[in-house]
Order: sequence, then structure tokens, then C-alpha cells
Amino acid sequence: MSSCKENKKTKEDKTNQTSEEKITKTISEEKIDSVNQLAARQYLTMAEKLEKNRYPKTFYPENNEFESSNSGWWTSGFYPGTLLYLYEETGIDSLKIEAERILKDLKQEESNTATHDLGFMMFCSFGNANRIDPKPEYQEILMNSAKSLATRYNDTVKAIRSWDSASWNKAGEDDLVVIIDNMMNLELLFWATEHSGDSIYYDIAVNHANTTMKHHFRKDYSSYHEVIYDENTGAVKKQITNQGFADESSWARGQAWGLYGYVVMYRATKNDKYLEMAKNIADFILNHSNLPDDKVPFWDFDSDKIPNDLRDSSAASVMASALLALYEFTNSTEYFTAAEQMLKTLSSPEYLAGQGELGGFLLKHGVGNMPNSTEVDVPLTYGDYYFIEAFHRYKAM
Ligand code: GLY
Repeated sequence: MSSCKENKKTKEDKTNQTSEEKITKTISEEKIDSVNQLAARQYLTMAEKLEKNRYPKTFYPENNEFESSNSGWWTSGFYPGTLLYLYEETGIDSLKIEAERILKDLKQEESNTATHDLGFMMFCSFGNANRIDPKPEYQEILMNSAKSLATRYNDTVKAIRSWDSASWNKAGEDDLVVIIDNMMNLELLFWATEHSGDSIYYDIAVNHANTTMKHHFRKDYSSYHEVIYDENTGAVKKQITNQGFADESSWARGQAWGLYGYVVMYRATKNDKYLEMAKNIADFILNHSNLPDDKVPFWDFDSDKIPNDLRDSSAASVMASALLALYEFTNSTEYFTAAEQMLKTLSSPEYLAGQGELGGFLLKHGVGNMPNSTEVDVPLTYGDYYFIEAFHRYKAM
């Protein structure tokens, strides 16, 4: 690996940790096990209904409509990823068998260079498969996926292109669009450098995160959803939203992607500036006057309908998982307590599906794309994935 790594520190260096603060877990092992058992039953029911090579997206309870996608949709990796976490938690073999079945189809996306979502698609799926049961074939798929993602890097802007230019994302021909969500794809690149010894993936991830830090964030550490750069000069042309309430608002899931992304950056580089960034984002979220006491955010922190607006359970799932990881790096009980509250709320009947409900999904009340009126107040495959991941982290603590 090259020397371009930024201030890489050893794992032992914990200068950022505050003094040890003891936590007491208030969610019982029995409760966690019952959530995982319910989830396993739900996902195995869902598996029976899935058509060949289709991937769960959402479910519309009012007309009992199950929506699926093909392998190329950005959410395809969450289904096998959730199955694999649940297999680890329950030991039920059929969960692993179903994950392996769908992975055979998902493999084709390793050469997809038309999307930035390869981290979501391939790392949540093959990354978990390889973590549980390391295999050369998984590693080859992950390497190929990282190579495909790296083709979207622009060294003038020093960022990975998220969406190709289009009128719907308000970008023209010479524009390069980066959305905050793209921070979630960097973990795949770090894995690729770790695995191959080639620093190019690491360097792309670091450059992308640094560019995002500079241009996606406001002074209060809230973030824009979409930044449009001039691909020839790297100049910022627009800071706007696509899925949020307004250009200057704080779209809840976007804040969650940013938080999770900078926790990953710290884990991978041990550079303190990323830990500071993650803490600042967490503090923005947790101190926001519009964050309800139960800690499940409204779909946008600045929606003009608050308090009479929809929550986004998927944003809470992502936040809970990220805050638990952040707690481990900081020992700050505030992060642990907030994550725990999110998990308690999400596993209450208000949010958690009953057995046989919701087409096999777990969490009610997710908001996919409010401005587009799609996937509003429904379960979302990524909400389920990060919910189960958060419990996995919580249990291991
Ligand atoms: N990455 C797309 C979303 O968060 O909806």
C-alpha cells in the first residue's frame, strides 16, 4: 500500500476517546432474540413469495402489493445481507441457503459501471457473505465490484460520480453529481485495498470523503443531498436536494448516510478528522429541536408539516447502527443511549410488523422518496437491513 494514507494510526491509538463511561444495556437478550426470530420467520415467508431473480423493495399494505426489483436496483444487496445477519443470529440454515441462491444472480452486478451504488449492492451482500464464510469467489466478486465503482472516480473533482447527468437530477452534460448517500459505498473500496494491497481504492475513498466534507456540509454539520460539480474544473455549481423537503433542508436519511459514512472513514483510516466529523453530524442530529423524544426522525428535519408529518424508520435504523459504532470509538454514552432509544422505538408495535404482516418486511413507516411520492409510509428493505445490523452490533457489545 502506498504512503498516501492520511495519518494512519494504529488501532491502539485512542486519543479521541473520552474517559471510560460505563453503559448498562436496557434491551434484554430475550427481546433481541425475539426480534431476530420474528425477522427470520418474516424473511423466510418473503422468500417463498419472491419470483425468480427478484429482490424485495417494499410492500403496500392498503392493496396487499409486494414490490420487487431486478439485481440492478440500488437496494438489491440488502435482502441477502439481512438474511446473512439473521443466519448468524439464529443459526437457521435455510436463511443462508436463500442468501446463497440470490447471490448467484446478484453476481452479475460486479461489472456494472452505470451506478455508484455498488457498495450498497455488493458489500452489504457479498461483504457479509465473505465475512461469515470467506471464499475466493466472493473476494473476486468484491474486487471486481470495487474496480467497477472506481471507474466512476473523477480526479479533477476528486469524487466518485453518483448519478449520471440528467434533467431529473438537474445536471447537464459537463456536470458531475455527488449525493451524500455515496459515502456508504466507500467501505467496499477500503476492503479492496485491504484485500489486494493496491492503495488506489483507499485513495479514492479518502479523496471522495474529503471533497464531500468540504462541499456537502453546512456550518452546523447538516448536509445537502446533492452537489453538482463542473467535471472539468471541480467547481461547485449547485447544492440542492432531490429527496429532501428543500435545497436548504436536512433530509433525514441523508444525515444518516453522512453519519454512517464518516464513522466508516474513521474505522478505516483512524484519522481523527473523520471522528470529529462523525461526532459533529451525530450532535446535529441528536440536538435537533425537531428530533422526537422517541428518536425516530421525521423524514426531513425541516419539513413544514412537523409535527404532523411522517417519520422515516429507515433513517432511524441507519442512525442507530452508526451511533452504536460511534459509541465504540468515543465511549460517549449519549450516542449509545440514543441508539438504544431508536431500537426500542423501532421494535415496538408502532413500528415492528406482527408475524405474517407487511409482506414479510419488518419495519413500518419508512419514507423512500417523498417529493416523488414513491415508497411513502411503507417498509423499506434498507430500513430492515440496518435495523438488524444495529441489533447485531448491540448484541455484540
Ligand atoms: N440511496 C437512496 C436513498 O437513500 O433513498
